[in-house]
Amino acid sequence: MSGRKKILAISGSTRRHSTNHNLLRAIAELMNDVLDITIFDSIADLPHFDPDRSNDNVPGTVTTFREALAHAAGVIICTPEYAHGVPGTLKNALDWTVSTADFSGKPTVLITASTDGRFGHPALLETLRVIEAKDIDQLQLLISFVRTKVDGSGNIIDERTRSEVKQLMNDFVRCLT
Ligand SMILES: Cc1cc2nc3c(=O)[nH]c(=O)nc-3n(C[C@H](O)[C@H](O)[C@H](O)COP(=O)(O)O)c2cc1C
Repeated sequence: MSGRKKILAISGSTRRHSTNHNLLRAIAELMNDVLDITIFDSIADLPHFDPDRSNDNVPGTVTTFREALAHAAGVIICTPEYAHGVPGTLKNALDWTVSTADFSGKPTVLITASTDGRFGHPALLETLRVIEAKDIDQLQLLISFVRTKVDGSGNIIDERTRSEVKQLMNDFVRCLT
């Protein structure tokens, strides 16, 4: 298992029983032989983005987040959409990475797992493109009606979704090499 690549996973939902968080846990288990996936569960602790503190007097939680990104070979983001947009907590976390280019050249997966998701998904894709997340257009999946496809424990109970997630993760592994 020593050759496993380190991956940072981020859930856009901070809800205690989040489907997105559970889905990330299921993906971590599914890919355990090849990927060492750590879920960064502290995005809610990041302060509101402040351009004046992006490079000087950087908050400690932001430094921790940036270091976790720097040590990762790739990133998996799994998020719902809120009010047809990207959850503010997630967008805030991404804004802290703009000046330091933490996503630049890093293979990144985007899964929008939501009731609908058709609005937040392309908006977040565009943000990830502009911060130069690598292979993002290839490594993306929209899972609508997620609560009928992923159960409360994170099991993917819809066969088509399961195969789409597997295919996505296999593509991700190829992009990491
Ligand atoms: C404040 C709020 C706004 C929401 N707005 C949307 C929305 O615009 N589109 C959508 O697909 N789902 C929306 N939802 C529903 C979420 O997609 C659904 O609750 C999802 O399961 C949340 O992800 P989670 O289980 O990981 O927390 C919203 C939920 C909340 C709490």
